[in-house]
Amino acid sequence: MAKLRYGIIGIGKMGHSHAKKINNGMDKNAVLTAVADTSEERRSWAEKNLKNVKIFSNAEDLISCSEVDAVIIATPHYFHPEYAIKALNAGKHVLSEKPAGVYTKAVKELNEVAKEKKDLVFGIMYNQRTDPMYREAKRIIESGELGKIKRINWVITNWYRPQAYYDQGGWRGTWEGEGGGVLINQCPHQLDLFQWLGGMPSKVYGFAKVGVERNINVENDVTFYTEYEGGGSGVFVTSTHDFPGTNRLEISGDGGQIIVEWKGLLSEKFTFIKLKTKESEFNATNKRFMPLIPNTKRTKRISTLSNAIKMGVIGQHINIIRNFSKAVLFGESLIAPGLEGINGLTLSNAVYLSSWKGKEIVLPINEDEFIKELEKRKEEEKVSNKKV
Ligand SMILES: NC(=O)c1ccc[n+]([C@@H]2O[C@H](COP(=O)([O-])OP(=O)(O)OC[C@H]3O[C@@H](n4cnc5c(N)ncnc54)[C@H](O)[C@@H]3O)[C@@H](O)[C@H]2O)c1
Repeated sequence: MAKLRYGIIGIGKMGHSHAKKINNGMDKNAVLTAVADTSEERRSWAEKNLKNVKIFSNAEDLISCSEVDAVIIATPHYFHPEYAIKALNAGKHVLSEKPAGVYTKAVKELNEVAKEKKDLVFGIMYNQRTDPMYREAKRIIESGELGKIKRINWVITNWYRPQAYYDQGGWRGTWEGEGGGVLINQCPHQLDLFQWLGGMPSKVYGFAKVGVERNINVENDVTFYTEYEGGGSGVFVTSTHDFPGTNRLEISGDGGQIIVEWKGLLSEKFTFIKLKTKESEFNATNKRFMPLIPNTKRTKRISTLSNAIKMGVIGQHINIIRNFSKAVLFGESLIAPGLEGINGLTLSNAVYLSSWKGKEIVLPINEDEFIKELEKRKEEEKVSNKKV
């Protein structure tokens, strides 16, 4: 196989960007051979803007096209597991956009199919896993330098979306169209990283507030608390109505603290405060009441545009595509394996369920109960007439 032949289902905002990048040769191992979209307007965009590409009006025709080896799915979320299963069953490699789906039951089915298709590569567009700051955090955690994790906190309230965003129509910001609000649309990257770095919790308690400062039926202000088998805990806060908001991740361990802060593209900053003696060892012998534990500080900054490009802060999506192509063609390890997509989704499903039921959720969640509650919200949305 000289180059991996990609077909993209859904060439809206995200899919058309992937299409242009591949079509412009930004991945030397890839070629775009087909796109599919149910919208006539998007298909005529493709006719004008893409070279040597077959254009289909539905996903199934693209999936069965013999000139496609790998399918990128960039439709609204509900379709992700459905088309991924169809593509895998047709012998195609699959790179799905995030989130993996809307509810874990569908994604579990997808994972079962993907596990059977051992010769096919299944990836997910968790592009923020390529960010050098989060990769450094991952490296430090895996090396044992951070020690046992005590706490993981993420305040990610800089997803500002005004009423105009929710009023644009379409599938966004509805239970029917996307299965929720900030948790399912804006936060899947952070929910993935939250578990990639901190592990999966055993318990979740969440508060997903609907329509805060906005006339919408879905949640746009969320706080949740997590507990882990090892004894650690976590807090995650997100919203779409704070401005300018905050993007700050802190992970505290026995060996120190990692902080990743983002205040704009060039001001992303990573800090690792490493204790010279692990806190547990220090505490075992220390006799002072309020001591400081000797430590060192390492930082990493972006600062310039060329640094941002060199370090991979810019170009995250194409870097995931390049990695995916190499995974298919040369067996390179995936940065974001598709099978892991269920983890972040499990977190968001658990937060919704906890908030709806007003109780702590012990994982695994009751998937049928989740679907029943989701369906209830779809029905309520039909009559509440806010954003449908
Ligand atoms: N990784 C990222 O950073 C990132 C960023 C934005 C969006 N996304 C994800 O990409 C997906 C699409 O988001 P978007 O912003 O591009 O939305 P969009 O509405 O702009 O594009 C979706 C496209 O899919 C088409 N479509 C809808 N149903 C279809 C079907 N059944 N078959 C074929 N085409 C169909 C629509 O006509 C539209 O052109 C979402 O799941 C979203 O979460 C990911």
